[in-house]
Amino acid sequence: MELMEGLLTRRSVRKYQDKPISKEILEKIITAGQYAPSAHNTRPWEFLVIEDRETLKHFRVMQRSALFAENAAAVILVCGREDIAYGREKEGWSYIDIDCAAATENILLAAHALGLGACWCGATPMTGPMAALKEYFKLPENVKPFSIVVLGWPDETPKQPERAMPERIHWGKW
Ligand SMILES: Cc1cc2nc3c(=O)[nH]c(=O)nc-3n(C[C@H](O)[C@H](O)[C@H](O)COP(=O)(O)O)c2cc1C
Repeated sequence: MELMEGLLTRRSVRKYQDKPISKEILEKIITAGQYAPSAHNTRPWEFLVIEDRETLKHFRVMQRSALFAENAAAVILVCGREDIAYGREKEGWSYIDIDCAAATENILLAAHALGLGACWCGATPMTGPMAALKEYFKLPENVKPFSIVVLGWPDETPKQPERAMPERIHWGKW
């Protein structure tokens, strides 16, 4: 699929066929995530792949809007490494979430390019889901859960509405 076509046709897919995704494809998608830009090229991300049905069912308990993970083939939990992300601790800022968002979007686009359906479900910045995910998956102290990418072979094809908003583009002045 041509890149521009992929960008313009991607939609969130929440209904999946009962069919696994090969390890090779999952690795390919995650590699796409690892090619995302990051502040100072720190690449402060880690990826936890979940395929076990019981664990997939448990996502609804940790983040209720991710309930359809129960019928997915896999979830990629995109996590951020607080110890290596670029930021200024003293000033209280870090690029960790922005970097993880870029990786998440690359994963969504790669999944779409390979014919998979995917949906980004939020973890960061919701304190409840973040704490639940951190505890359930026993994430190390320096690792924060950022997004829950739910994946499967699509069983729906959401239409793409018109999204261009030329009135939101400001040429030279606001
Ligand atoms: C940060 C973020 C969090 C999201 N969380 C959820 C979620 O918890 N559950 C869900 O079904 N969709 C979630 N979505 C998907 C959005 O609902 C979806 O991207 C939006 O409605 C636009 O639709 P599209 O992805 O088909 O273009 C999330 C998307 C983003 C970017």
